Amino acid sequence: MAKVTLSVIKADIGGFPGHSSMHPALMELAKRELTKVKGKLIKDFRVLHCGDDLELIMTHSKGVDNKEIHKLAWDTFKKGTEEAKKLKLYGAGQDLLKDTFSGNVKGMGPGVAEMTFEERKSEPIMIFMADKTEPGAWNYALYKMFADPFSTAGLVIDPNMHGGFTFEVHDLFEHKKVMLKCPDEIYDMLALIGQPSRYVIKYVFRNSDKEIAASTSTQRLSLLAGRYVGKDDPVMIVRAQSGLPAVGEVLEPFSFPYTVAGWMRGSHHGPFMPVGFCDARPSRFDGPPRVICAGFQLSGGMLEGPADMFSDVSFDNARNMANDVADYLRRHGPFEPHRLSADEMEYTTLPDVLKKLGPRFKKL
Ligand code: F6R
Ligand code: MG
Ligand code: MG
Repeated sequence: MAKVTLSVIKADIGGFPGHSSMHPALMELAKRELTKVKGKLIKDFRVLHCGDDLELIMTHSKGVDNKEIHKLAWDTFKKGTEEAKKLKLYGAGQDLLKDTFSGNVKGMGPGVAEMTFEERKSEPIMIFMADKTEPGAWNYALYKMFADPFSTAGLVIDPNMHGGFTFEVHDLFEHKKVMLKCPDEIYDMLALIGQPSRYVIKYVFRNSDKEIAASTSTQRLSLLAGRYVGKDDPVMIVRAQSGLPAVGEVLEPFSFPYTVAGWMRGSHHGPFMPVGFCDARPSRFDGPPRVICAGFQLSGGMLEGPADMFSDVSFDNARNMANDVADYLRRHGPFEPHRLSADEMEYTTLPDVLKKLGPRFKKL
């Protein structure tokens, strides 16, 4: 059986209105562009949006980090930016940090999550897409899915999962990675991933056969650009069932709207709110941060779906809790820990504001 590659490549190329959502013209343009190569360069595709981020979901046989696939995404974002400029959409082309494509979209602004695998007899896939937060936002959820038996029952009950999973954790500041085998090394891993601004889970593999189970986008725009250019708004691919967490176990971590960094001006902590596709348009204080999940069955590389996984009443309590947490945090105004800590604020526009106070400080 030939291997299939799933590539999810995303960028914010202009918001409508402001940074809240997506103009339909950009989605139409992306669909037109990808239709031109469907059945040729790519097998199948879907175009979605989460807030102001355009999400290109593509299947193909070219493997990960493929130049042609990345160029297709880059060119689509470039053409979308021209359209966004015509319509004077907000922040047109904001995530395209470079002018010319150099072989791979990594480090150029767009976010990428990819994986290659042999399609199983039946292949359920969950694709998560977030807005108004950072790549480390997946850490908590991935830990719960693949390492916490109080969340994923299969870790205890299913002999095919009982051996646990290995996590590839990246240090975004020092560009290093470490493999952590769980459950043996859970405490070591938590010591790292509890700092999601720096340590980010990139991949998860099943211990018994090294099968890939999850892949995330890990670029940090502010670290690439050295300044604030919007939050990264990451994506994540998770395979489910038959010796991997069940679909419901993959979704379960999001029943708790845990706190993530992002929200207004990429400078605030807020609850991570799971929503249906139609609610992926953050409005209150440019948020709160959102996550959607598109469910698919792969069939010979074709995408059956998407199913809108969070448009389910069983996530109503999570949304209600998120709104309560949002109320509570908002009342702190500019005070930490609603506002991010000083080192995180380094990459925002706050240092410019503080500069003028510098000379007025006198020694105590
Ligand atoms: C968050 C985000 C927005 C903007 C905010 C200010 O990721 O993109 O919250 O930071 O709307 O935007 P400007 O400075 O462009 O007016
Ligand atoms: Mg934006
Ligand atoms: Mg966004």
